[in-house]
Amino acid sequence: MAPLDSRPPMDAYAGDIEKVLLSAEQIQTKLAEMGEQITQDYAGRSILLVGVLKGAFVVMADLSRYIRLQLEFDFMAVSSYGAATKSSGVVRILKDLDHDLAGLDVVVVEDIVDSGLTLKYLLKNLAARKPASLEVAALLRKEGIQQVPLDLRYVGFDIPNEFVVGYGLDFGEKYRNLPYIGTLRPAAYGG
Ligand code: IMP
Ligand code: MG
Repeated sequence: MAPLDSRPPMDAYAGDIEKVLLSAEQIQTKLAEMGEQITQDYAGRSILLVGVLKGAFVVMADLSRYIRLQLEFDFMAVSSYGAATKSSGVVRILKDLDHDLAGLDVVVVEDIVDSGLTLKYLLKNLAARKPASLEVAALLRKEGIQQVPLDLRYVGFDIPNEFVVGYGLDFGEKYRNLPYIGTLRPAAYGG
């Protein structure tokens, strides 16, 4: 597989981006590797991919198409209380899953694991529903500052502790449709 991103540049946010951390091509290449690994690990089985809205929907759409197995999709929406760019660890379920997880092989797809608090809460909640297996595929993990030790089976990239946008990740609900991941210019924070 040689994923190449031939889409025209996304100029709409160009003035807001300080630097590109991960190009569209780097992201696609990594997702292809992760999809191949998942395909091998779950050979002969089917998977339920669980996405955490909204950020994970972009990762999920692309990752799923690199997984050459039967799979189904489900989504959860959660909100953590507190400031926009910091996780408070208090999680509220806004939309629950449609599937009953009992006996299913579940892979939770995350855009980014920052403090890990959101994911820790989710995994505990999902494990209580008795899936046959429960693993995590996260595109990004922020280095060094994880407050919660988590066993992440599939991780795309370890990135520095900077606030990033694009590829599903937002600031004030914008930038999710950028095909790459980058940092924001201070002016874009409204500063
Ligand atoms: P955590 O609970 O600290 O691991 O982070 C939970 C959520 O915060 C993630 O799923 C994202 O929605 C959001 N988040 C954390 N870091 C970033 C970032 O750098 N950019 C955009 N959203 C982020
Ligand atoms: Mg967000």
